[in-house]
Amino acid sequence: MADTTLRELARRKGMYIGAAKRHLGQRADPEYEAALAREVNCTVGETQMKFGPLHAERGRFTFNAADELVQFAHDHGMAVRGHCLVWHHPSSLPPWFRRREWSREEALDVLRDHIQTVLHHFGGKCFAWDVVNEGLADEKGTFYREESPWLEAIGPDYIAQAFRWAHEADPETQLFYNDYEMDAVNGKSDRAYRLVRDLLDDGVPIHGIGLQGHIKLEEAPGPESVAENIARFNDLGLTVHLTEVDVWIKGEPSEEDLQRPAEVYRDLLQVAVEAKDCPAFVTWGLSDKYSWVPKFTGGEYGAALPLDENYHPKPAYHALCELLGR
Ligand code: G3I
Repeated sequence: MADTTLRELARRKGMYIGAAKRHLGQRADPEYEAALAREVNCTVGETQMKFGPLHAERGRFTFNAADELVQFAHDHGMAVRGHCLVWHHPSSLPPWFRRREWSREEALDVLRDHIQTVLHHFGGKCFAWDVVNEGLADEKGTFYREESPWLEAIGPDYIAQAFRWAHEADPETQLFYNDYEMDAVNGKSDRAYRLVRDLLDDGVPIHGIGLQGHIKLEEAPGPESVAENIARFNDLGLTVHLTEVDVWIKGEPSEEDLQRPAEVYRDLLQVAVEAKDCPAFVTWGLSDKYSWVPKFTGGEYGAALPLDENYHPKPAYHALCELLGR
């Protein structure tokens, strides 16, 4: 098995095994790109295809970084997940949009123009798109994420509209609702279930659910509950992708400490492999060298990805290979 890569093992299983690719700009890192080319058959831009990077000025689109990602994927025979067309997060919205109030009509115009321009540009180069990202609230009391400027300006139907425009622009790509902390059966995944069931009942073209899988080791979801959650979305006729998996561990873990996150990775991949329709397992980065987790957690958590900062395999990498090799 030692001479077989994660990518080859995934191919034999008919799985997409993927990793988000960070845009390094002028800071080329050949070892990083070689590791991605060797180990994964699917990729997604960590930021390259988000609203702000593509649409920095109203009506003016810049695709250089995103096209570079798509070219890299093409050159290495990788599938591309598009991420993401509609998100509330201020870091992904450009100043021209963030800095003013929008009427419903104007916000609809902006959103339709963005979605259709982007999907026409990539026309078929992305087999899946995260159309709406993180549109649901975390709290039990509310349903939708109240701080979304899209919800504020347009109302809840921004979600259905986004999917309709995306499908019009690219009828071939699979369209996903993507969110975090809803990997298992819980209050949030219950709301996601109700959301997508209602969308389907209204004839909205939605094809899949993205379970992000950002997991703190001490809060790892039980694999049985993740399997149950995936199965209920499959029973709605939706495919499921694990879209942003990383398993966060505190402090400076020893090799022994890294066995537990490896088991979480293994169990999650096993659930995907055994599910009726969960063909994609994508980690949010491949090497700890470019993981968002330490910065996001102020250094409290890290070591979240299958390869270490020097691209050496960690126990999680071996656990994923072992599972795929069964
Ligand atoms: O590239 C610039 C750099 O030139 C500049 O010096 C630096 C100054 O802070 O910013 C750099 O851009 C940062 C970018 O990541 C590049 O890594 C942005 O500030 C920063 O906001 C951006 O954060 C990303 C975040 O989404 C917002 O887009 C994270 O890397 C990325 O991991 C994170 O990913 C999200 C998913 O899209 C959705 N699910 C949650 C996940 C984690 O938040």
